Order: sequence, then structure tokens, then C-alpha cells
Amino acid sequence: MTAPSARPSGPAPAAGSPSVGADPSLAVQTTGLTKAFGKQRAVADVDLAVPVGSVYGFLGPNGSGKTSTIRMLLGLTSATSGDIRVLGGSMPDRARDVLPRVGALVEGPAFYPFLSGRANLVRLDSGDRRAPASSRRARVAAALDRVGLGHAADKKAHAYSLGMKQRLGIANALLMPRDLLVLDEPSNGLDPQGTREVRSLVRSLADDGTTIFVSSHLLAEVEQMCTHIGVMSAGRLLTQGTLDDLRALGAHRVRVLTPDPDAAHDVLVRLGLRPEARDRHLQPPETATGSARVEAELTVEGLTPEAIVAALVADDVRVRGFEVAGASLEDRFVDLTGEGFDVAG
Ligand SMILES: Nc1ncnc2c1ncn2[C@@H]1O[C@H](COP(=O)(O)OP(=O)(O)OP(=O)(O)O)[C@@H](O)[C@H]1O
Ligand SMILES: [Mg+2]
Repeated sequence: MTAPSARPSGPAPAAGSPSVGADPSLAVQTTGLTKAFGKQRAVADVDLAVPVGSVYGFLGPNGSGKTSTIRMLLGLTSATSGDIRVLGGSMPDRARDVLPRVGALVEGPAFYPFLSGRANLVRLDSGDRRAPASSRRARVAAALDRVGLGHAADKKAHAYSLGMKQRLGIANALLMPRDLLVLDEPSNGLDPQGTREVRSLVRSLADDGTTIFVSSHLLAEVEQMCTHIGVMSAGRLLTQGTLDDLRALGAHRVRVLTPDPDAAHDVLVRLGLRPEARDRHLQPPETATGSARVEAELTVEGLTPEAIVAALVADDVRVRGFEVAGASLEDRFVDLTGEGFDVAG
């Protein structure tokens, strides 16, 4: 491998020479990324597209390939096949240009147990050739404050709780300004308060313009913290996009309150919604007007709720109530993966 040529200081341009397919709007881009362990493909043909400035939630159940993917992105392990670009640079070839601009937390960094949190960070910071020694103490103090460890800075690391260690790991990733943060399950081992703190930390870092790639097996967490999401299952990237895109794709349940349930049912069927018996509840009239509720589960691809109401009205179905319920991401993920995600923790 040839050493990268010297470059003037200042804002770093995309590392590596541009090659076909490199997209400057993406902070992370992979094509056909695959990692095999023996016969098992832990990561299979993954095409990630992480937009610059996004908070990208890399969601998947245990063993779905999140950490393996992250380790390849960071050059910690080699890919079996596929291409990786991080901040425009091809990995691992351009690691020396790319990695200083990337802060990472992967499966708990190793700390010296008998050094304090502060002393551990000072040590790690002094291992970074770009980090000026004169500002080291201030830099370490700021990073500790940022993750809420200021009060415990002088406690020995072995006396830290798992959550505190996790936060110390994030502080380490934050010592220097970064263009990209890669956090592998940063909330692992945190209590609800710690989880909230990590969430707000991630959001405030994103507000500063850092792109954040964060893995999680917790849907609720990703939903509250991310702008984009990629869903892994058994090594495959099932879908990715903005949270809004994914919500819009999901199966929705519509409820129509009408005194004309049979006519409503016919219209829904004609629209291709096939309300099944279990989806259709004709309740006894609640009032003298005899309204009944018709429920249907539908996939709204190419069919907006407005179009459904319009079709009902055009057929003289009297619509007394119309509700689109539960465009929930959770339903969407269960559809996609055939398995549930932890939603609470
Ligand atoms: N070094 C390794 N040798 C063999 N198999 C491995 C190795 N690392 C990971 N695997 C396997 O690859 C698959 C994906 O593991 P990985 O750790 O990437 O999943 P994950 O999504 O990060 O899971 P978790 O949510 O539990 O952290 C698993 O089946 C795992 O057993
Ligand atoms: Mg993992």
C-alpha cells in the first residue's frame, strides 16, 4: 500500500480519487458488501446509502449483521466482497485519510480499569497525532461534560457502571471534531435515563452537522433519534430510507364509520383492499341512525386515504367517520422481517 500524499491543512476533501459510483452526498456508501464466516454470510450484499448530515439508524435484531458491517466500515475487519466508501474515501485503502475524521464506538472500547475516566481519555487523546497536547486537558474535560461524566471524571474506570463505560466510550469518540460518528448500540447497558441522554447527545451532535450512523435493536430508540433508517435481518438490508418514507409504505388500518357497511365493503373490495372477515366488524347500531364500523387493512402503495374517501363518497356511501390508524413502523418491520423488534428495551 502506498502512503497517502501530503495534503494542505484545512477542510479535508473527499479522500481517495473519485471513482465511478462515488456519490458525494453520501457519508457512507457500500455496494454488495458481504462478510462470510465459513459458510455463513453474516452480511450479505448490503448496499448502504447514508446521506451526509443524516442520523441513520441501523436497526436489526441480535445477530443480524450490524456489528460485522460496522467493523468493515471502519477497517477493523476485511470484507469478503463488495465496495465501501466512507466520507468519499475507499475503505480500507484510504483508512489513513478517512479514519481521523470518523469517531467510533464499537462494542465497548478497552479502558484501563485502574485509571480514572479522565486519565483514560488523556491517554487515548495523546495517542492521536493530530490532537494538540496544549489543549488536551480542556478537550478531555469538554468531552466528559458532553456525555455527562464530568462529576465522575476522577473515578477509576473499574468503578464505572456499564452505562458510564459506554458514555466514556462516546466521550472518546468525541475528543476531536468528527465528520462522521459510528456508534454500535450506544445505549447498550444504559438505564432509561442514560438512554435518553444518549439520544439527546446524538441529536445535538447531529445539529452540529455531524453525520451519525448508529446501530440499535430498539425500534423506539431509532424512531426517536434518527432521520433515516436501514433494516437488517439475517445479514440482509431489507429496506432503507427516511423514517417518513418507511411509514408511508406500511400497511395501514382504515376505519370507516358508515350506516352503509355493505356498500362500503363493496367499494373497498373494488379498490383492491380485500377486507377480510376478521378486518370487518359490523357492530350493532349504536344509535338510532344505525351507523356501523367497517375496518380494513390495506397497503397504501398508490392509494391515498383521500382516494379511498373519494371512492366511498362517489358511490354514495355515507361516511360519518374516517380514520387512518397505526401507520406504525413496528407493523412495517414485522411485515418486513417476519419477526418483532424490541420496542421498549
Ligand atoms: N468472528 C466471528 N466468527 C464467526 N461468526 C461470527 C463472528 N462475528 C459474528 N459472527 C456471526 O455473524 C452474525 C452477525 O453477527 P453480528 O455481531 O454482526 O450481529 P449484530 O447485528 O451486531 O448482533 P447484536 O445485536 O447481537 O450485536 C451472527 O450470526 C454471528 O454469530
Ligand atoms: Mg452487534
